[in-house]
Amino acid sequence: MVTVLVLAAFVASLPWWLPGRVVALRVRVFNRVNGQENIAVPGDLVGMDRFKEVYSHPAAGGRSEGAALSDLFWYWLAPGPEMHQEHLEAGERYDAVARSTRGILSVPRVKAEELARRCAARGLAGAGGLVRLRDLMMPIWAEFSYELVFGERCPRHARDLIAGNADDVVTSLKCTGLRHMDRRERLTRYLLDRLPDVRHPLPGGLTPMERAYYLQGAFFNTAVVQMSEAMAHLLMVLAQHPDVQERALRGDPRYLDQVINETLRLYPLFGIAHRVTTGEIALDEHTAIPAGSVLCFNYPEFHRTGFDDPGRFDPARFDPDHPPAKELNHIPFGIAANRPCPAWRLAPIAMRVVAQEVLRRYALASSATHSRSLPNRGPCLLTPRDGTEGTAHRAVLLFMRFRDRWEDVWRSLVQLVLGTYMVWDARRQRLCARHFAAADHPTTTGRR
Ligand code: HEM
Repeated sequence: MVTVLVLAAFVASLPWWLPGRVVALRVRVFNRVNGQENIAVPGDLVGMDRFKEVYSHPAAGGRSEGAALSDLFWYWLAPGPEMHQEHLEAGERYDAVARSTRGILSVPRVKAEELARRCAARGLAGAGGLVRLRDLMMPIWAEFSYELVFGERCPRHARDLIAGNADDVVTSLKCTGLRHMDRRERLTRYLLDRLPDVRHPLPGGLTPMERAYYLQGAFFNTAVVQMSEAMAHLLMVLAQHPDVQERALRGDPRYLDQVINETLRLYPLFGIAHRVTTGEIALDEHTAIPAGSVLCFNYPEFHRTGFDDPGRFDPARFDPDHPPAKELNHIPFGIAANRPCPAWRLAPIAMRVVAQEVLRRYALASSATHSRSLPNRGPCLLTPRDGTEGTAHRAVLLFMRFRDRWEDVWRSLVQLVLGTYMVWDARRQRLCARHFAAADHPTTTGRR
């Protein structure tokens, strides 16, 4: 009897300690395989006071070549990771690609708002009840991105292809599932066929396949994943802070901008952004960061520094009476001097509109864990605004909390196993290392 009770107590305690330990183990496995020669910023060599200076340094410019962890990123972003804007090295190709992206994203505010409103209205039709916010958001941003690129309403099969591709990428990135290359390649083939219909100039000097990869990487992977994740975070904070939700619904619309700023401060989409140094960076007379080093800029740590009680969610930090956001340790879209996000202007405009559309229709509540990596995809209860909250509402939230805790146990084990497999598989495939090796020896491989 005592043994049964001890066993029952052990099992019941799992959600409180096991997921944390498994995550720590996963991080150790990743570090081991990726090599620990990376330089953490802030860290022993570069303090928080020089975070921005080093990030902005012209020699902190390499993106992929020479970093062991690139093989893993390329694996997650395949097919065509070598054409993903984020991973292209500086040069003519990068300039051409970045120019095209800027062109596609340069939408006047009113048009962007109108597009976001239309996509949200379609995506939210028939929603409600217990949802996962990331899943709810994906079709909305799939349609939004499609319309930016093709300038016409997104057909249903294209929306499903895009959302399927983006979901597969983010699921594997979070190690909650493996890659399904067939899903991703179906989108590549579709884009290849549709290249003549793109409404904007595409980068010059690229083959049709490279153009398809470029579009897939920037607009049908990164744009959809990042917007869906950012919105899931935003809606989760609204669901868990009823006072903020009420003010966002009925108060000054600009208040939502403060909420977005604070959400992206507390839950930055990038945990770490890395750069490979292309030259030496002198720190003082005696110390320098050598060329070829991998610098890992820690966003969450940067965003915690310089704020009172930094773990508390408080949109008042971005009140118009306080110092402007650009004077704070707040870089949700990266650093202006070093390849910042090209959607830094458009993203918050579209997010605000979609949040308003959700709030107008539903009251949000969530009792699930809200962490930066959001592996639970943001469980949330959406109650139509004209409905009433009652005992059932409380029971659903209780169920959600219970389910979330136990899912955490299972998921952490899945992430450990799948993550370890993908790290191993990525090291075996060496997509990035092989790409650069082939570029250095064109005659043996036929490239260039
Ligand atoms: C709220 C949403 C978003 C956030 C918070 C975000 C954040 C970021 C950050 C922090 C970086 C720079 C990382 C670094 O320094 O390495 C970045 C880069 C990038 N983002 Fe976003 N992003 C968002 C939405 C989008 C969208 C909608 C697109 C659409 C195309 C996009 C495309 C890119 C690209 C292409 C880069 C690489 C830029 C370059 O290297 O030239 N992002 N993003």
